[in-house]
Parts: sequence; C-alpha cells; structure tokens
Amino acid sequence: MTNTGIAMIGSGSATPPVSLDNQRLSQIVETSDEWIASRTGIRDRRVADPQTSLCSLATAASKQAIAMAQIDSSEIDLIILATSTPDDLFGSASQIQAQLDAPQAVAFDLTAACSGFIFGLVTAAQFIRTGVYKTVLLIGGDILSRWVDWSDRRTCVLFGDGAGAVVLQASDCDRLLGFELRSDGSQNGCLNLSFQAQPQPLIDQITVSSGTYQPITMNGKEVYRFAVKKVPEVIEKALFRADLTVDQINWLILHQANQRIMDAVAQRLNIPSENVISNLANYGNTSAASIPIALDEAVRSGKIKPGDVIATSGFGAGLTWGAAIFKWGV
Ligand code: UT7
Repeated sequence: MTNTGIAMIGSGSATPPVSLDNQRLSQIVETSDEWIASRTGIRDRRVADPQTSLCSLATAASKQAIAMAQIDSSEIDLIILATSTPDDLFGSASQIQAQLDAPQAVAFDLTAACSGFIFGLVTAAQFIRTGVYKTVLLIGGDILSRWVDWSDRRTCVLFGDGAGAVVLQASDCDRLLGFELRSDGSQNGCLNLSFQAQPQPLIDQITVSSGTYQPITMNGKEVYRFAVKKVPEVIEKALFRADLTVDQINWLILHQANQRIMDAVAQRLNIPSENVISNLANYGNTSAASIPIALDEAVRSGKIKPGDVIATSGFGAGLTWGAAIFKWGV
C-alpha cells in the first residue's frame, strides 16, 4: 500500500459583499453593540442576498485556491464540500465541479456543522495517503443566515455567511502531522437545525411526513462549556499524534465562534494571544467556512509562511469536534 504525504498548497475565500454590523442588528432585535462585542467579540458579519448561492461563494473561494496552488482545475481528482446549508439537499458539490470545469473530479458533500472543515481535511487526507487521488479541493462553506430565526437575539447575532477553500496535493514530504476527530450524539440537543415533521396522511393506514427544517436552536451555555473543555483536549491529542509539543506551534486557528472561547482555549494550552488567528470581529461564526477563511486571510497577509506549524480545531453541532496539526505550503 502506498503511503503518500499531504501538502496544502493553495487557499481562497469569499464572503458576500453585504455587511450587517451590530449597530444595524440592534434595529432588528433588542440587543446592542456593547452586548454582542463583549460577550462574543463579533462586531460585523456578512449576509448573502437571495441571489447569492452557496455554490457561488464556494466556487469563488475555490478559484482563488486553485490559482494560488498553480494547478489547472482539470487536475482535481476529488472535491469535498463541507456544509450544513447546501443549495440542494441532494448535494451541492457537483454543481461546484461543473462551475469550476473539473470534469475528472468526483464531488460530494460532507456534513459536520462547524467541524466540517476539519472532518473534510481528514477525509481528503485518507484518499491522498492511500494513493487513490493526488489533488483534492476541500471547501468549507455555509449560509446560516438562511436558517437563523431573525427574531431570536440569542442566536441571530452570532452567525455570518461565507466560504473558504484549500487545495491539497500528494507530496513526498508529509505536512499533515496529526489529527483527532470526535463526536458525541448524546449532546445532540444542544445545537440543532432539525427537520420538523408534519404528518401527512396518504392513503389507508399510510402516513408520511412533509414539513421543513426549523431555524437554529442552541443552548449557548452548554456549547460554550463543551468547547472550552473539549477543544484543548482534542488539540493535545492531535499534538501527541504529531509528536509535537505546544511550543512548536506557530499559529492556532480555532473555529471562529466566540473570542472568549478562543482566549480560554489559548490560555489553557499556554499559547500567547499573538499566535492566535482571529477574524471573528469581521465575519461572526461562518460555521464550516470559518477556519479556511481565517487561514486564507493569514496566508495572504503574509502572517502564515510556508513551513509554519498550524494547530487548528473545529467544534459544533452533533456535537462534533476535531483538531488537525499541519505545516502550511510545499
Ligand atoms: O459553532 C458553535 C456555535 N455556538 C457557540 O459557539 C456558542 C457558545 N456560546 C456562547 O458563545 C455564549 O453562550 C453566548 C454568546 C451565546 C451567550 O453568552 P452568555 O454569556 O452565555 O449569555 P446568556 O445566554 O447567559 O445570556 C445572558 C443574558 C440573558 O438575559 P437574562 O436572562 O440574564 O436576563 C439573555 O437573555 O443576556 C441576554 N441576551 C442578550 N442580550 C442582548 C442573550 N442574547 C442577547 C443579545 N443581546 N443578543
């Protein structure tokens, strides 16, 4: 069996142009810039208008990642779209394949909420390691503005829309150093976007259900407690698998959900705040997109350089959580 290394050679991101800052949000629900900023660190978020599809954001992010990787889209073997908000419940990845003109690629969606990018990264890595595929496009994208209850101030202030993408390629030198994935369905009720069945009698004794998905519900305090406890643990486990210690990490990129969660995790791991990448103030929680958007911005600004060691962790609904340690670039 081949056991090929993995390199992350390109990144890209896209967010809708329309921003909705805390001030304007306070005209929609009873809240304030002071409450949102002090409890979460969020000041602004981008929201998709009805013409902006998840596929359009994902395709724009992907084009940037493909350009940075200096590959042609015809070289892509696999496209994984991590999302909980597809344009089509049957899957949206193949629409992106068509828009990118990547006829060789097989494309599928993967759902793991805010952990989707990490779960997607590890899934992509398995195909590369076994030698099945050489070049993989991984996208994390969500449009949660479609699914929040805009009258619920406990949730609507938290989320924003966007997409981020990376190109992964087979390499002699392995840059994915360690990972750990976890889930705990017993805590599923903490954070949901669930289907609400409406019984629809069809004929005789047969009743099916019609209905729709209900807006996001969340027990914020439980999710907060879970994140602060489990994220440092899972990063430590991934570091152990990578045979690295915390002081060998150049950058910590956490799922951008709450600045207080990021600060608490960094503090628990003894990582100085200048090594923690945060763009939460500008975008809010963009779910599966938050890690690749933060990564892409840090790469493009020159903060993250080739060879830097990045510890990254996603966490959220499921509940799911996971961490991956990798070196950026070839
Ligand atoms: O991808 C994972 C996604 N989820 C998360 O990461 C969520 C993790 N949890 C959190 O980030 C925090 O729990 C929140 C930011 C959601 C909430 O912060 P908190 O410090 O746990 O506030 P709380 O829910 O205990 O609410 C405190 C008060 C309540 O009023 P009372 O009951 O004390 O009178 C809320 O009604 O703040 C009130 N409140 C608000 N006030 C103004 C809740 N939301 C708002 C709001 N504006 N937007």
